[in-house]
Order: sequence, then structure tokens, then C-alpha cells
Amino acid sequence: MEFGVKSGSPEKQRGACVVVGVFEHRRLSLAAQMLDQAADGFLADIVRRGDMDGKPSTHLLLHRVPGVPAERVLLVGLGKEREFREKAYRDCIAHATRVLSGLGVTDAHVYLSELPVRKRDLAWNIEQAVIVAEDTLYRFERLKSKPEEAPRGPRKITLAVARRGELALGDAAMRRGAAIAAGMKLARDLGNLPGNVCTPTYLADQARAMAESNGLGVEILERADIERLGMGAFLSVAKGSDEPPRFIVLRHSGGAAGDKPVVLVGKGITFDSGGISLKPAADMDEMKYDMCGAASVLGAMQVVARLALPLNVVALIPTCENLPSGRANKPGDIVTSLSGQTIEVLNTDAEGRLILCDALTYAERLEPACVVDVATLTGACVIALGHVTSGLLANDDGLARELLHAGDAAWDRCWQLPLWDDYQEQLKSNFADMGNIGGRPAGTITAACFLSRFAGKYRWAHLDIAGTAWKSGKDKGATGRPVPLLAHFLAKRAQRA
Ligand code: BES
Ligand code: MN
Ligand code: ZN
Repeated sequence: MEFGVKSGSPEKQRGACVVVGVFEHRRLSLAAQMLDQAADGFLADIVRRGDMDGKPSTHLLLHRVPGVPAERVLLVGLGKEREFREKAYRDCIAHATRVLSGLGVTDAHVYLSELPVRKRDLAWNIEQAVIVAEDTLYRFERLKSKPEEAPRGPRKITLAVARRGELALGDAAMRRGAAIAAGMKLARDLGNLPGNVCTPTYLADQARAMAESNGLGVEILERADIERLGMGAFLSVAKGSDEPPRFIVLRHSGGAAGDKPVVLVGKGITFDSGGISLKPAADMDEMKYDMCGAASVLGAMQVVARLALPLNVVALIPTCENLPSGRANKPGDIVTSLSGQTIEVLNTDAEGRLILCDALTYAERLEPACVVDVATLTGACVIALGHVTSGLLANDDGLARELLHAGDAAWDRCWQLPLWDDYQEQLKSNFADMGNIGGRPAGTITAACFLSRFAGKYRWAHLDIAGTAWKSGKDKGATGRPVPLLAHFLAKRAQRA
């Protein structure tokens, strides 16, 4: 989809369709009032008759409205004006996009971007409109033998800004939104690909292709390299599968040569069967999504490159499968991590932390400004925060605040859980330096406690995206989260630098 921004009032637009909002209780939005004036009360009349009551997820398409040069006017329900906040705004954009995609129109002038959302500004509205529209139109059909019926229109959506003086701001927001949406699409495509296509080798090849076409540095370590480094925890998971592991390193050098990099680490388990601690059969297919941390880090790196952020960023992605086999980890096995710390593998299904811990140790040699890892790490996080909010744990409150703020600004929110020492006890092992599980209570926190033992030398935060990286049920599919959060976090850091 192509986007543009434009100033100018709705009753002057030619073109195929003008989109304006209507609140409940017969309240026309400002843009709708302007059309209504040009049309001599035509819209107010329709609303008065009750044909458009302004309820959310409703619309009315009008043709040849008198006094209005556009071919069509699409009225979109906004709900109650007092309750019109972020979610309502995003919902009305999604609804309008869905309606437009079913029409035979080439272009649309959308005035919803002018609607005031409390505590938000025009830049937020425009960026979100682009992200939500792209998100709504997303389909994953590359593995269907016949494509389903393609959306018909429009090819271009023009978003309205009230004043000419806002055009530059709106344009920048639109570009940021488009870059984030493209990063999300990359993450979603990789996430949705099944385990027999998206193997560690495939993921590494895609990372290389993305890096090369966006001017990022890339280095891909193979099994022998990983062995030479001594990543015993990562390798212990990888050796249960015939698919060879990869360790992907991407570099964006937008900052000064001596500037310490922000390091992103993504969990890249391309399929998590649980290993010998095998998962139940129901919904096990969804464990193809266990590389969504890696996919979101790749998506964020693409955003960083396309926006040419003046910041040094390095991405680290350990990727392998977690399968049961004659060479797989067994409960009770003790492995030696890259850090030298030994780990008793009490549950082979707690594999994410085993591959991440070696990546976190590897990060030390990059002398990072900070490290953020992203992982579909614990089912417990889904119980705690559901599918709305990602889990956040950190050894540094300043870094945690930055991420909380970025999540809010991007409307891709996370919430902090405590990483207090008191929880560390649950990882005690009688036979090794630690166990890889901490029992049922506070599963998300003990997983982060485990990681914290490998992240002691720098400022570090962990995002548990088990509940937010994909949707189950009839809308099953990857969400592209937390690409928006990461993009905002990095953009803000680049601004500060
Ligand atoms: N990838 C899973 C976490 C997961 C489970 C994400 C369900 C989304 C939905 C992870 O590798 C895992 O299996 N974690 C275990 C840890 C446990 C054995 C301590 C879990 O959460 O059950
Ligand atoms: Mn697992
Ligand atoms: Zn996993």
C-alpha cells in the first residue's frame, strides 16, 4: 500500500473516496461537519434518521453526495466521543481499511487521522494509521496453491493533516510508520513460515539477504564456529536435531566508530517440541512461533537500517530446533555454558534460556551500551499478562523505563515484573551451578533470573513475548510484535546520542 499526507478540507477533495468519522449520539467529527456544510445538511440528516448511529465497527457508504466532488463518502462509526482513545482510534482505522479493501476504489482520502486522541499528537495518529492499515491488509498466502481473492482497492491512502504547516511532521511520521510496518511484515512472514521451511539455516539465509539488501553487516557462525567458541548450553539444545544450528550476527553502524552498541538478542527456536520433556500434542504446531523473538529482532534491524538511525546496533540470534532424539538433552544432564557456569537441564523444554544465556555471554565482548533480549520464553507470561502485554524484566531501572515508555509510545506495550534476588533461590541445583527451571511459582521471573546470571556485566533487559508474538484460534498468525516497541526504543536512543 502506498501512503501520502495532505492538507486541505474534505469538501474540496476529488478522487474516489473521502473517509470521515461519526461519533455516537449524532456527533459529526470536524471533517464530517465540513462535508455536511458543503452538502447542505445531507449528512446530519442521515445521522438524524438513525441510518448511521456512530457505533464502533459500523460504516455507511454514500455515493455522489451533493456539493461534494469526491465520488464517495465513507462514514465510519467512532463510538462515544468521551471514550475515543488509542484503541478506538486504531479500531476505526482498521475498520475503514477493511471496508476500503472491499471496494473498487483506486484511492482514498482518510480524515480519521485528524481525530483528537487524548495525550497523543498528529505524528502518533499518522504513524499508527499506517501501521494499523498495513496490519489489517496483511495476508500470509505464500504456501496456498491458489491465492485467495486479492483485496480490490485502494492502491493509495492519503492521510489528512489539518494545516499545511503540519505536512513535514506528518510525512516523517508516515515514513516511520511505513518502516515499522515493513519490519513487522518481515517478522510476521518469518514467524508464520512452518518449521520445515523456516529452519535455522533458512533463518540465517533470510537474515543475510535482509542485511545485504539494507546495508547491514552480517556474520553467520556455523556449528564448528559455535563449538570453537564453547557455547555448550546452546549446543546442547541444537544437538537433538539433524538441522544444524546457526549463530547470526548483524551490525548497523550508524553511530560514531567508538560508540558502544545497543545489542538485541532474539530467541530463534524454529520449532520447540519440548525435546525429551515432550510437549502435549494439542497446539504443538504453534511452537513454530518460538523464533518470533529472532524475527522481531530482524524486523527491528531492518527498521534501523531503513531509517538510517545514527546509532550502533548489533543483533545476536542463536537459532536451532528443540527435538527429542538419541542425541538430545536428557533431564538431569549437566552442560557447561560459554560463561563457564554449569547448568543442570532439569527440563529440556526450558531450552530458550539455554540458547540465550550463551548469546548473553557472547554480548560481553561487544562492550554493549545495553542489551535487550526478546524471547517467547514462558507459558507463565501468557497466564500473567495475557495476549495484550509483553513481560519486561531488567537489571537496570533506567533501561526498564525506556522500554516501558517506548512500548507506550508505539502502542506495543510491556509491563515490568520484579527481578528480585529472593527468586534466585528457586534455581538451586544439588549437582551444578544452577538448574534450568525454578518450579511452578513465578515462572516468568525465574526464567529471567536464570538469564540475569549471564547478564551481570552490563545493563540488560528481557522482553517475554510468549503472549504477544502470535495469535491463536481463527486469526492464528504472527503479530510482528514487539517490532514497534524496539523501533521506538532505538529511535529514542538515536535521538539522545
Ligand atoms: N517456547 C516455550 C514457551 C511458550 C509456551 C511460549 C507456550 C508460548 C506458549 C518455552 O520454551 C517453554 O517451553 N517454556 C516452558 C518452561 C518450563 C519448562 C519451565 C513453559 O513455559 O512451560
Ligand atoms: Mn520449550
Ligand atoms: Zn521454547
